[in-house]
Amino acid sequence: MATSFTVAILFIALVGYTRLAEAVSENPTASQIRFLLDEDAALRQKLQTRIQGLQQSVSTLNASIVPCSCPLPTTPVPRAQVAYTGTLKSTMSSLNAASVFNFTGDLINVGAPFTPHDAHFVAPVSGIYGFSLATYMTPGRYVLMDLVRENTPILHVKNGHYSGRQVIMGTNFVLANLTKGEHVWPKYTGGSAYLFGEGVSTFSGFLLYEL
Ligand SMILES: *[C@@H]1O[C@H](CO)[C@@H](O)[C@H](O)[C@H]1NC(C)=O
Ligand SMILES: *[C@@H]1O[C@H](CO)[C@@H](O)[C@H](O)[C@H]1NC(C)=O
Ligand SMILES: *[C@@H]1O[C@H](CO)[C@@H](O)[C@H](O)[C@H]1NC(C)=O
Repeated sequence: MATSFTVAILFIALVGYTRLAEAVSENPTASQIRFLLDEDAALRQKLQTRIQGLQQSVSTLNASIVPCSCPLPTTPVPRAQVAYTGTLKSTMSSLNAASVFNFTGDLINVGAPFTPHDAHFVAPVSGIYGFSLATYMTPGRYVLMDLVRENTPILHVKNGHYSGRQVIMGTNFVLANLTKGEHVWPKYTGGSAYLFGEGVSTFSGFLLYEL
């Protein structure tokens, strides 16, 4: 912008001086010279006024620029990580509703929801959790088991077969809305009072998301 105005001023000045030179070369009178000088001054004044107007527009536009207020990147809220899986190390017999199933084989216990002293899953935070229980039986027996939350069933596994037939796995999965501190554990509810362990039967629980 400034450069083009400089060029314009030079151009007009050049034109002015050229005309002045022509006038002088044609034996100009003093009044002719004064006329040309006056014209030159008027053009300069006009340009100066235009430049001032443009400078005013620039500063008005500059003042209208709203400072950028982009939101600062937020640091993610640390999320609870809760993941448990245990297998039953040994086969259990003489089962009843009070039997403690200690699924501690091949243990994964992220966030320590599994508490070894009672063999329960205890919710470290409130949220939606997923649980599975898988029971394995050898021929000729059956077992009915629940996963209970504070002693109320949230999942059933029923598993059994005839003597001499194929071995079988009973498994089930459930989502549960747990409040922090609630306990979940496997409970025997009926059958041959027997559950095959040896690392095959499993109990798992994990936090899907916090509430
Ligand atoms: C525009 O305004 C800023 C301050 O808000 C100033 O630093 C800058 O020099 C101005 N630019 C012009 C061309 O006036
Ligand atoms: C479960 O087994 C672990 C060892 O794997 C032991 O430390 C814990 O006391 C047992 N808990 C129960 C309730 O039997
Ligand atoms: C989970 O339980 C809490 C407390 O009982 C309740 O406020 C919330 O609405 C429940 N959420 C879902 C998804 O069931």
